[in-house]
Amino acid sequence: MFFQELPIKKIEPVGPEVYRLGFASREIAGKARPGQFLMIKPQGCAEPLLPRPISIHRVQSGVIELLVRVVGEGTRRITEMKAGEVLEVKGPLGRGFQIDPGNVPLLVAGGMGAAPLLFLAEELFRAGGKEKGMAPILFIGGRTKKELLALKEFRQSGLKVLAATEDGSYGEKGLVTDRLKAYLETLPTEAIVYACGPTGMLKAVASLARQEELPCQVSLEEHMACGMGACLGCAVARRQEGGPGYAKVCQDGPVFEAGEIDWDE
Ligand SMILES: Cc1cc2nc3c(=O)[nH]c(=O)nc-3n(C[C@H](O)[C@H](O)[C@H](O)COP(=O)(O)OP(=O)(O)OC[C@H]3O[C@@H](n4cnc5c(N)ncnc54)[C@H](O)[C@@H]3O)c2cc1C
Ligand code: FES
Repeated sequence: MFFQELPIKKIEPVGPEVYRLGFASREIAGKARPGQFLMIKPQGCAEPLLPRPISIHRVQSGVIELLVRVVGEGTRRITEMKAGEVLEVKGPLGRGFQIDPGNVPLLVAGGMGAAPLLFLAEELFRAGGKEKGMAPILFIGGRTKKELLALKEFRQSGLKVLAATEDGSYGEKGLVTDRLKAYLETLPTEAIVYACGPTGMLKAVASLARQEELPCQVSLEEHMACGMGACLGCAVARRQEGGPGYAKVCQDGPVFEAGEIDWDE
């Protein structure tokens, strides 16, 4: 884990209240795994005091890219930064996706959940995903077309993209889980599901994967204070032998086997 102060190389809007920002760090780029996250804040920023967790979106030639959506003061301050201004960056943190090259990877993204999946898609191709019939497929959903993030980059990476929007403005009208369900009914081969998005979507994806007896990894979001396992601020209910327990999303996750999570809590 590194703690670095890094100048922003570029920052640009890419969707409604969503910005892509990039900075160079050979150290973080060399260690980062898909599904891991960084704790970031503007240098010297006192309000909010604590850094915010943001997934690693892409790693290319030593440059780290993030997608940041404005939801409150912390993300607003980050997205108002300009190229050349300095970010405090801690990471890479957490447990990322476990790549299993033997099964067809089905990536499922809801809204901002697309952020960590581009890094995963590019890593899957690097790990041999160009074999015939083994190329990853992306199921991506949002309320409208504008909420489907990084579509161009996903397509450039070589993925087959199956989109769904609730208003029908792009792809099929409906939920991304409807598209996944229809696909799983005709699945010709073994597959593994990797999902990131709102909790309701993750719960539905976990249930579909369980019905089809497919392995499924989900990336969870929780409020975080320390990001390093010290404060228990990010605890979620976990199924374990001997009764209910909890897991720290920042340290035990953010990526979990779907069966590890107690979705009814
Ligand atoms: C592992 C991990 C990875 C993440 N990756 C990304 C990413 O790649 N891009 C990105 O934009 N965001 C990501 N997030 C979410 C991001 O950390 C939060 O949106 C951010 O911390 C909010 O800080 P804030 O100061 O802007 O808002 P706050 O002032 O902390 O919150 C403002 C309001 O938004 C609500 N809120 C806060 N966080 C969330 C949330 N996660 N979901 C829904 N409502 C929330 C609060 O309850 C409050 O009502 C990630 C979170 C985690 C845990
Ligand atoms: S954020 Fe402190 S323990 Fe996870």
